[in-house]
Amino acid sequence: MSQKSPREPVVVRTRSELAGARQRLTGTVAVVMTMGALHDGHLALLRAARAANDHVLATIFVNPLQFGPNEDFDRYPRTFEADLEVCRGAGVDVVFAPSTAEMYPDGEPEVRVNPGPLGERLEGASRPGFFHGVLTVVLKLMHLVRPDRAYFGEKDYQQLTLVRRMVRDLDLPVEVVGVPTVREPDGLALSSRNRYLSPPERESALTLSRALHAGQAAAARGRGPDGVLAAARACFDEAGDSVKLDYLVLTDPGLRPVADGYRGPARLLVAAWVGTTRLIDNAPVEIA
Ligand code: PAF
Repeated sequence: MSQKSPREPVVVRTRSELAGARQRLTGTVAVVMTMGALHDGHLALLRAARAANDHVLATIFVNPLQFGPNEDFDRYPRTFEADLEVCRGAGVDVVFAPSTAEMYPDGEPEVRVNPGPLGERLEGASRPGFFHGVLTVVLKLMHLVRPDRAYFGEKDYQQLTLVRRMVRDLDLPVEVVGVPTVREPDGLALSSRNRYLSPPERESALTLSRALHAGQAAAARGRGPDGVLAAARACFDEAGDSVKLDYLVLTDPGLRPVADGYRGPARLLVAAWVGTTRLIDNAPVEIA
């Protein structure tokens, strides 16, 4: 454990170090769970947490449980020193950065959180077991950190929805706070995976945010769900082979599918492959 100055985050690596550091935090404690490779999207979470709580604890752990056999666990960026710098700038009090053995001392857990039917759809359909892995580590981190509030980005809207659901269904004493997606000036949603994109791929990746914007614009012109989806899909037709659409769906804010007569607040969600990189994005849409 190291503490160099009052604004220097205390870095803890083990459960017992975490328990010691946690005990010294009085007042409200917020947690921001991350897999590192921190960018301005994470910074927005840390700042929102900092603004509303006495203490902020960030976790940095690349969770093997949420990567499929053909996914990018090994190539997932690990940038601890740069991450610490972001935490330092955001006024984080404690950084918990455990090893895999510290988080899973008995190897991969046999008992995992079942995310229910929503966990099998959208991201869950393309990435079997993904949300079992996410919710299992989130629950473990909630138990270890014992936060009053937990901050999650709307960029991973299905994850945010499932964490909220887990907190309700399993009676966890935590308030879940969603924070809006941070975008580049041209609309690209910030993501740790953007760094894999070549310049032409980055251009193609803009198709996702363009599609969401087209869907929102169609809704603003009075179009219903089918019109919103058609406007968004047209952006992918225009982009051709450079972007491979995985799903494009319109749901209600709780991620239940909506029929064409639906009116009210909705969510447009998209996932697509750009080269070997899979990207997701989503946006709120008001169907009048
Ligand atoms: O959103 C992420 O970075 C991860 O899914 C999380 C919540 C840190 C769990 O590993």
